[in-house]
Amino acid sequence: MSEGGSYLITGATGPVAEATIALLAKRGDMLLLTGRNEERLAELYRIYGAPGRVETLAADVTTGEGARAAAEAAISQFGRLDGLVHMVGGFHAGPVALTEDADYERLMRVNFLSAVKATRAVLPHLRSGGRLVFFGSPLAAEPLAALGGYAASKAALITWMRSLSHEVKHRGIHANAVILTMADTPQARKERPHVDFTQAVSPDLVARVVAFLTGTASDGLYGSLVPVMGLFGFSSALAGPGRAD
Ligand SMILES: NC(=O)c1ccc[n+]([C@@H]2O[C@H](COP(=O)([O-])OP(=O)(O)OC[C@H]3O[C@@H](n4cnc5c(N)ncnc54)[C@H](OP(=O)(O)O)[C@@H]3O)[C@@H](O)[C@H]2O)c1
Repeated sequence: MSEGGSYLITGATGPVAEATIALLAKRGDMLLLTGRNEERLAELYRIYGAPGRVETLAADVTTGEGARAAAEAAISQFGRLDGLVHMVGGFHAGPVALTEDADYERLMRVNFLSAVKATRAVLPHLRSGGRLVFFGSPLAAEPLAALGGYAASKAALITWMRSLSHEVKHRGIHANAVILTMADTPQARKERPHVDFTQAVSPDLVARVVAFLTGTASDGLYGSLVPVMGLFGFSSALAGPGRAD
């Protein structure tokens, strides 16, 4: 499906999602927005909510139960489901010696297994033209020091998505990923005051690519990675000050 379709947006409470929610809602899509943060969901509902058209549900899609509840709620609200925009994610920076098992486990759960669970939940409902949109990082292909856990979890996501795409493309289902450097959000500006955010990617630009990936303009894309890199000097900015040696 595409414009005017029905989409589950997971991780809708995150800082990148709002611009996508605004654009797809304006396009006339039916949206079910999920996350665990009920306060943020209520705020999103106040701005974008429309009974039977833009709804919210508190659910943790990193669990099978939460993912199934989200897919079933979308079906019961809208009568059909045309796609998943999976925006759940997590980040961790730290050298191997300072990264705990729990950090790796959390990264794999939020960045990889959540996508598996959300996809499993929506897949039985998708018809030909269905859309699955995931969010990766260039670090998966070009890992930097002290970002191994994050990079590995996004690499797992992307490798799995490409395999999934081969499985589902014969049903006419499109699985693709946005490869995002760093989004320019108020949260990121606060957390990373050393970064030049004029180089980062505005969530509005991400939203336009999601609109493309959930629209008929992307009918030819199966298992594609769509880079939305902005002007960001990725390695130098994240690796910190350079060393002469
Ligand atoms: N922001 C960036 O610069 C950037 C760069 C590259 C890739 N990406 C990817 O783009 C997507 C959207 O970015 P974002 O920054 O908006 O995402 P985010 O804030 O990292 O995560 C989005 C949502 O995921 C849910 N989540 C986080 N940890 C969780 C956990 N342990 N268990 C269950 N849910 C959890 C949270 O929702 P609840 O707390 O409401 O459940 C959160 O609002 C993510 O996949 C992210 O990894 C972002």
